[in-house]
Amino acid sequence: MCGIIGYIGSRQATPILIGGLRKLEYRGYDSAGVSVLDPTSGPSTSRVVRCRGKLSALEDKLTREPAPGTVGIGHTRWATHGRPSDENSHPHKVGPISIIHNGIIENHLALRAELAAAGAKFSSETDTEIFAHLVERALIGGAPDLTTAVRRSLARVRGSFAFVVMSDREPGTLVAAKNSSPLVVGLGDGENYVASDVTAILSETRKVLFIDEGEMVTVTRAGVTITDFEGNLHTREPKVITWSAVQAEKGGFKHYMLKEIHEQPRAVADTLVGRLDLEHDDVVFDGIELDVKKIKRIIFIACGTSYHASMVGEFMIESLARIPVEVDLASEFRYRDPIVGPGDLVVAVSQSGETLDTMEAIREAKRKGAQILAISNVLEASIPRLADHAFYTHAGPEIGVASTKAFTTQLVAMALFAIYLGRRGGALTRERAREVIAELVQLPVKMRDVVETAGQIQSLARRYGAANGFLFLGRGAQYPIALEGALKLKEISYIHAEGYAAGEMKHGPIALIDEHLPVVVLVPRGPYYEKAISNLEEVRARQGKVIAVATKGDNEIGGHADDVILVPDTAIELQPILTVLPLQMLSYYVADFKGTDIDQPRNLAKSVTVE
Ligand code: G6P
Repeated sequence: MCGIIGYIGSRQATPILIGGLRKLEYRGYDSAGVSVLDPTSGPSTSRVVRCRGKLSALEDKLTREPAPGTVGIGHTRWATHGRPSDENSHPHKVGPISIIHNGIIENHLALRAELAAAGAKFSSETDTEIFAHLVERALIGGAPDLTTAVRRSLARVRGSFAFVVMSDREPGTLVAAKNSSPLVVGLGDGENYVASDVTAILSETRKVLFIDEGEMVTVTRAGVTITDFEGNLHTREPKVITWSAVQAEKGGFKHYMLKEIHEQPRAVADTLVGRLDLEHDDVVFDGIELDVKKIKRIIFIACGTSYHASMVGEFMIESLARIPVEVDLASEFRYRDPIVGPGDLVVAVSQSGETLDTMEAIREAKRKGAQILAISNVLEASIPRLADHAFYTHAGPEIGVASTKAFTTQLVAMALFAIYLGRRGGALTRERAREVIAELVQLPVKMRDVVETAGQIQSLARRYGAANGFLFLGRGAQYPIALEGALKLKEISYIHAEGYAAGEMKHGPIALIDEHLPVVVLVPRGPYYEKAISNLEEVRARQGKVIAVATKGDNEIGGHADDVILVPDTAIELQPILTVLPLQMLSYYVADFKGTDIDQPRNLAKSVTVE
């Protein structure tokens, strides 16, 4: 969950490292640091500058303690082992070795005890520092170069990691290694880069090499050598990344989250591009060929927002393709000894493509013989690479920690998948497919309509923003949206919120209702309408304040609610893609009203690569 970057070339490294770290800050942000070498003026000792706090704190420190040099590594941290502090910040330095790390060394306690017994002195509480000791000892023990020393050290550690290592004694080399944490190499002209994410190096180069599981890479100014941990040479062609760097910037909005809310119509349109076959009333699922008639069951595994998208997927697939679907939290699935095997299609849903729980759940399902499809927003991330098939959403980089456009594009991917399954499995008639596809085509325009109601939602947020709690209710495909609405609100405003299936309210949460509790009820047109209205009346009878999200043209709803937000009509399977938008905006404006750190809420990280 940390961000890592390395540079080797002839330009000053620090500004490049800081520029990269700024793009990576969303991955971890409790401390930051750089270690920079200046090999141009003979033997050099790297200078480490690091501190607790956001990147701006490091930048301040660097103005007082500059780190000149043309080779360096940089890191933003989200603490896992050892609290956020100056000492626990990366890079860690042991003798000539500087190191940055993303992930966790699982056997760190045993290694620490062994190293301490052999006389090692530790200056931090981190698992990372252990690796620096191992590399130093490998060099003292006779490893001929840094690459060999890192390779020998890798044989001692278990866990998920991406390391970048630098040595004062071999200043022309960076060595990096990857296991379950992302790593990419950027290729320049007489200069090269290493990073945990392409966005960190996009402003410098678009030519990249994605490093695979169990690979290490030696990077010099002149070139890059990829091997496995045993030293066998691996080769591959570089890829050219087409994302624009500007896409990842704030674009005039107050927060990334607000910008990303507004980007949703475009993100959804991008996700639909090339996927609709209007001539045959079908979808093009990126060349993925599944034997649909043989699929007995689909199991979604995911975490957080992706879990809610999967619950909507369940509704869509059961409605359009009539294939039984189960949805499971990845962290539960992986430890339950799940009953899964051939005949099951396991769909792993992850915006980042790096969530460790989801990755391990895939491994478990694979071991038991299931086929795996990944839905991810990040090209070539670990999860899609682990899966048999990968389908990508095209939301572009999402910087705000609370997911918005990555979620709605996941819902679009679910709809495409449901149509694909329905058409091939025979449950979906061509006529119904045509109707849903026509509605998909209309979605970006309808989403824009909803996003333009921001002013109304801002005034609602002002009115209800002082509440101590919120309840969100929905039925059918709106139930996961109620969960998502509650998750968004608590993530960024720190107000306690619960999402509930509307029919379950009477079994507990009804006790919470009084004149101080705002209750957001999702009541779009459809078969659940009357039932949802009854639930809404149950709230009103107890003086609860009702904010209804309903369909344009509903003339009745005004008589049942204190406030009404209207969204355009669409196919029932696609309604969640519209009804979630006001909930995202409500959360955003309530949080903005409260003045919280919206893009980087406390204690949260964008991508969670630990258990
Ligand atoms: C973290 C993020 C959430 C996200 C979850 C799953 O907790 O803060 O926004 O929903 O991870 O992430 P994934 O990348 O697998 O969708």
